[in-house]
Amino acid sequence: MATLKEKRTCGQRCEDFGHFVWNSENGTFMGRTPLKWIYISLYYVAFYVVMTGLFSLAIWVLLYTISPYTPDYQDRLKSPGVMVWPDTYGEEIVEITYNSSDKNSCVKMSNILRKFLEPYNETLQQQWNNVSCTRGQFHIQPHFTAPNHTKWSCPFTQNMLGPCSGVTDPTFGYNSSRPCVIIKMNRIINFLPSNRSGVEPYVNCTVLTGAENVQDIEYFPQNGTMDLSYFPYYGRLAQPSYVNPLVAVKFSLVKEKEAKIQCRVVSDVISYENIHDPYEGKVVFYLSVES
Ligand SMILES: *[C@@H]1O[C@H](CO)[C@@H](O)[C@H](O)[C@H]1NC(C)=O
Ligand SMILES: *[C@@H]1O[C@H](CO)[C@@H](O)[C@H](O)[C@H]1NC(C)=O
Ligand SMILES: *[C@@H]1O[C@H](CO)[C@@H](O)[C@H](O)[C@H]1NC(C)=O
Ligand SMILES: *[C@@H]1O[C@H](CO)[C@@H](O)[C@H](O)[C@H]1NC(C)=O
Ligand SMILES: *[C@@H]1O[C@H](CO)[C@@H](O)[C@H](O)[C@H]1NC(C)=O
Ligand SMILES: *[C@@H]1O[C@H](CO)[C@@H](O)[C@H](O)[C@H]1NC(C)=O
Ligand SMILES: *[C@@H]1O[C@H](CO)[C@@H](O)[C@H](O)[C@H]1NC(C)=O
Ligand SMILES: *[C@@H]1O[C@H](CO)[C@@H](O)[C@H](O)[C@H]1NC(C)=O
Repeated sequence: MATLKEKRTCGQRCEDFGHFVWNSENGTFMGRTPLKWIYISLYYVAFYVVMTGLFSLAIWVLLYTISPYTPDYQDRLKSPGVMVWPDTYGEEIVEITYNSSDKNSCVKMSNILRKFLEPYNETLQQQWNNVSCTRGQFHIQPHFTAPNHTKWSCPFTQNMLGPCSGVTDPTFGYNSSRPCVIIKMNRIINFLPSNRSGVEPYVNCTVLTGAENVQDIEYFPQNGTMDLSYFPYYGRLAQPSYVNPLVAVKFSLVKEKEAKIQCRVVSDVISYENIHDPYEGKVVFYLSVES
């Protein structure tokens, strides 16, 4: 085989190639007549036009059917998580420990709460959410009636948290054995807490261990309720000024003793026994005061 190859000189090879490119005997160019080349080109032009058309159609249908205001896939979160502030996390567990006679400890705790409550400032809420809502009723808004193609959000101001608002007592009770914690339920788009109008979800805190170390539990707003007018939430783009409703819980503690507390948001559609998500529907934390 090697000898056969060696017999063909470079000149012969170039000649063969020249024949292939333009064969004057058959009048073919690269093995095909010019007319055939035109047909082939036309075929490919048509092919790519059709492909582009199909692709554009697919993209258009996709963009036409998805809404920019809600994520398409929310299958994971159906029941909301619950969080507690001040969010002083130890290892894995939430541990709220403070020293009521130490000024630094008190300032640290109240700063966390004050910062957390900044969006709930009355002046800000009056600017952003200047709308009156009917208490006890879902604030259902099919249309974008607020400015800039958005929907209204009901105002929640920090003074609704009474003695835990930080207005009358800037220490939030952390200078004594009567501290406030704030419970927030995470927002879920289009979530309605109950299908029965007039039944609000409410926060119920129970002492799991160390019951004798907690003398009293108070809720603000009254009965720990989250009003129905804060639901449903339509998403960040549709409701840019939305604020979660909050519940403040004020405890009376016995000094130097720790209590393990569970705060649960009670509603017939909120589950709280998911072993895979300990924060679903409830939050468990340790609370203690030193002096
Ligand atoms: C609490 O703070 C006071 C004043 O700073 C200090 O004397 C006391 O030892 C502290 N208590 C604890 C348990 O750290
Ligand atoms: C709310 O904000 C206004 C203006 O920024 C401020 O004067 C006022 O003290 C704030 N209110 C509270 C309770 O922090
Ligand atoms: C709230 O709206 C009312 C009427 O809709 C208006 O008179 C008032 O000035 C508004 N307040 C603020 C703070 O924008
Ligand atoms: C609407 O959007 C414009 C431009 O982004 C902004 O300047 C204006 O303050 C917005 N109006 C309201 C009521 O948010
Ligand atoms: C804690 O601070 C508040 C407000 O400054 C005050 O009214 C209250 O008497 C203080 N409590 C203690 C135990 O110092
Ligand atoms: C409303 O809730 C009740 C139970 O509280 C349930 O039986 C019923 O199926 C629910 N209806 C809808 C439409 O979700
Ligand atoms: C709060 O939860 C405890 C324990 O689950 C229960 O005994 C109590 O009745 C509940 N309170 C309310 C008001 O639902
Ligand atoms: C709080 O609950 C009590 C007893 O269930 C009830 O009498 C009272 O009207 C409730 N208050 C509010 C503001 O819902």
